[in-house]
Amino acid sequence: MLNEQATERSRGALKAIAFAVLAIILAGCGGGENSGGAVDRPYKIGLMLPYSGTYAQLGEMIKQGFEMAIAEAGDSVGGRAVRYVRLDSEADAGRATRNMQQLVTGDNVDVVVGPVHSGVAMAMVRVAQQEGTLLIIPNAGLDAATRELCAPNVFRTSFSNWQPAYPMGRTAYERGHRRVVTMAWRYGAGQETVAAFREGFEAQGGEIVREIFVPFPEVAFQAQLTEIASLSPDAVFVFFAGGGAVQFVRDWHAAGLHRSIELLGSGFLTEGTLNAQGEAAEGVLTTLHYSEVLDTEENRVFREGFRERYGRWPDLYAVQGYDAGRLLVESAEAAGGTQDQARLIAAMERTELQSPRGPVRFSAAHNPIQNIYLREVRNGQNVVRGIAHEMLADPGTGCRLVQGR
Ligand code: PHB
Repeated sequence: MLNEQATERSRGALKAIAFAVLAIILAGCGGGENSGGAVDRPYKIGLMLPYSGTYAQLGEMIKQGFEMAIAEAGDSVGGRAVRYVRLDSEADAGRATRNMQQLVTGDNVDVVVGPVHSGVAMAMVRVAQQEGTLLIIPNAGLDAATRELCAPNVFRTSFSNWQPAYPMGRTAYERGHRRVVTMAWRYGAGQETVAAFREGFEAQGGEIVREIFVPFPEVAFQAQLTEIASLSPDAVFVFFAGGGAVQFVRDWHAAGLHRSIELLGSGFLTEGTLNAQGEAAEGVLTTLHYSEVLDTEENRVFREGFRERYGRWPDLYAVQGYDAGRLLVESAEAAGGTQDQARLIAAMERTELQSPRGPVRFSAAHNPIQNIYLREVRNGQNVVRGIAHEMLADPGTGCRLVQGR
């Protein structure tokens, strides 16, 4: 009798354990829906950004911008509470595949937001393609991400490397420049940026007299500045960003080159760097999809909200992070939640953002179509001199996605 009762009890306990295990498995499969149909499980967001090294400041701005957009939406996406998994990408392409796999298969995130660096992006896009995880790129310009490597689950809220640089080619020519030297870091972003400038400049009839590359993320520019002085071009077009941009502009000025040669760049050269560059940045001309002085309601509200929250002014990188968050929040709302990835992606394709940078919509390849502004540094600000190219779309060469499937 005693034995029978004990057996009965242990059968009951086993049943309870089996039910609990089943419930856990179902919840893990995304089946943990409550009676209202909403998923109780938190929406897991992996932030893969550089929190150390040359691009650390860029990563911090993107993170803060993104988190601000999510916080404004009540720290939820499509009705689900948000949980962050933060991973330092270190702007190191060598570790990118492992890091991305950790987020996607180890931490099982619903979406990854990152990176800053084009080389890191290459590895992340490949893993996203294999695993089908949603990826939103809030900076890295790697052209292929929205060209040959484009994928239904990969979106970008920033730019392709081609976008800000190409319009500067025509601008440089229109300013009377005929012989130009280019200089950049030798990696994806530097090479693609210079190629885009060359394309725009040569199409007008300009000549690139020398392309100079230095290893990433080196900031020793003296030998190259001496070479530039001896070549005596009409202008120099460069790609540097973050700590490297600060150093380059300071060295340029200290070498006295600003007196005889116009310095041009894609706008990262003077983005988030003006305080550190000071007087040396005055007069530098750049093209970019944002300026802090854009006189719109969206820009004013964003800038003041950011300053209130974090105690400092935002830059372009913060805008790109913010827009990544807005894209997710607005699309999840339009799709009625995040459960159905195909619906969410279709909503993302249709989403048009009223961004602090101006209007943004997405190309078939999932890259932003946006204004590229011509800016000049005056009194420590990137003042807008005009629109270098209105609503510019990347050519998207090699991408076979069709919008509105
Ligand atoms: C890139 O590696 O794609 C990159 C990095 C920093 C920038 C722009 C592009 O400011």
